[in-house]
Amino acid sequence: MIYFDQAASSFPKPPSVAEAMIHAVNFVGANPGRGGHALARQASDIINNTREKTAEIFGCSDPNKVLFYQNATIGLNQAIKGLTWKDGDHVITTAYEHNSIRRPLEYIKEQLGVSVTYIDTPEEAGSDLFIDAVQNAIEPNTRLIAMTHASNVTGRIFPINEVTKVAQKNDILTLIDASQTAGHIPIDMKKQRIDMLVFPGHKGILGPQGIGALLVEGNVNLLPIHHGGTGTFSNSPKQPEKWPEYLESGTLNTPGIAGLHAALVEYEKRKKEIVPRETILSNALFKGLSAIEGVTCYGTSSVTYRIPIVAFNIENINSQEVSMILDSHYNIAVRAGVHCSPLTHEALKTTDQGMVRASLGIYNTEDEVNEFISAIQEIAESYKEI
Ligand SMILES: Cc1ncc(COP(=O)(O)O)c(C=O)c1O
Repeated sequence: MIYFDQAASSFPKPPSVAEAMIHAVNFVGANPGRGGHALARQASDIINNTREKTAEIFGCSDPNKVLFYQNATIGLNQAIKGLTWKDGDHVITTAYEHNSIRRPLEYIKEQLGVSVTYIDTPEEAGSDLFIDAVQNAIEPNTRLIAMTHASNVTGRIFPINEVTKVAQKNDILTLIDASQTAGHIPIDMKKQRIDMLVFPGHKGILGPQGIGALLVEGNVNLLPIHHGGTGTFSNSPKQPEKWPEYLESGTLNTPGIAGLHAALVEYEKRKKEIVPRETILSNALFKGLSAIEGVTCYGTSSVTYRIPIVAFNIENINSQEVSMILDSHYNIAVRAGVHCSPLTHEALKTTDQGMVRASLGIYNTEDEVNEFISAIQEIAESYKEI
């Protein structure tokens, strides 16, 4: 089968990921941080080593500010709802957000009286217009810019370096959703002035499902959105104030964290080849699909590097129908519909049709890209004959 649904969850994973998880289940097993015995210490070591490796790779100064949750969504919720909001505070975001940012923002808007500006500049207009729009959206009470690093629908990369410069100058915190870029584009929180960064383990990093992280750089005051057992300061009725326990309640996913560690080690080995390889593949895909009569590809073709996502439609055929044909006749996996990002479809006027999204990864090949283009060509032609 051809697996072009890497943006939903990557597949396959490096074999060391499952091996590390099996080792954690079969030979460690104990509860990390909840006992002084050897196995509990080994479980804690897995977690501490993974915090350190994560901090090192993403340029976060303090491994204790690498917080593990079950996915990116919970990390984004912790970052957004954990800030102390006042009625009248303001947030800037984009019209290209996944529901995992949009819904928590809409929640604090409704519950806490925070206002939200959604920036929508066309991709073809380039970065300058986007930055101008961010600059113009700033109000005296703007506290946070929360946005995706790249669109999960079109693959558009946003100019976060310029955004964080503007934010820092205006004393505004930044939260970057790296769900679609971690593992595809190098990220360094310190160098890129990012205050909070979130990524899931199961996408570009090639780790397992069930693990994600929120990384915090510098002094960001967050309140926990969950309270409970931490294995430390157990006599206190209050959440311990020491990080990471302060923001991580309940038993952690040790096997998932072990798998994430293995994935990060593999990522370090291959990171130099990722950008060139994925760029060649996704540019070939974009070019090949754009040349087919009746196919519309979304997003600009002029980027030197796009994250390896190509979203398209054939004439006005429903995207779900195309994805079903690809699955049943060609054994090709893609995603169709609105991809948990309805605002993007409103902006691009594709709400009803959705889009077919082909998303690639480091293990996909040129042959697969060519086969995919031929399949779309055939499908497009078959509809013309009807
Ligand atoms: C941009 C973006 N943000 C957040 C998420 C949510 O990730 P998870 O399902 O791992 O919480 C996704 C998943 O597709 C995404 O693409």
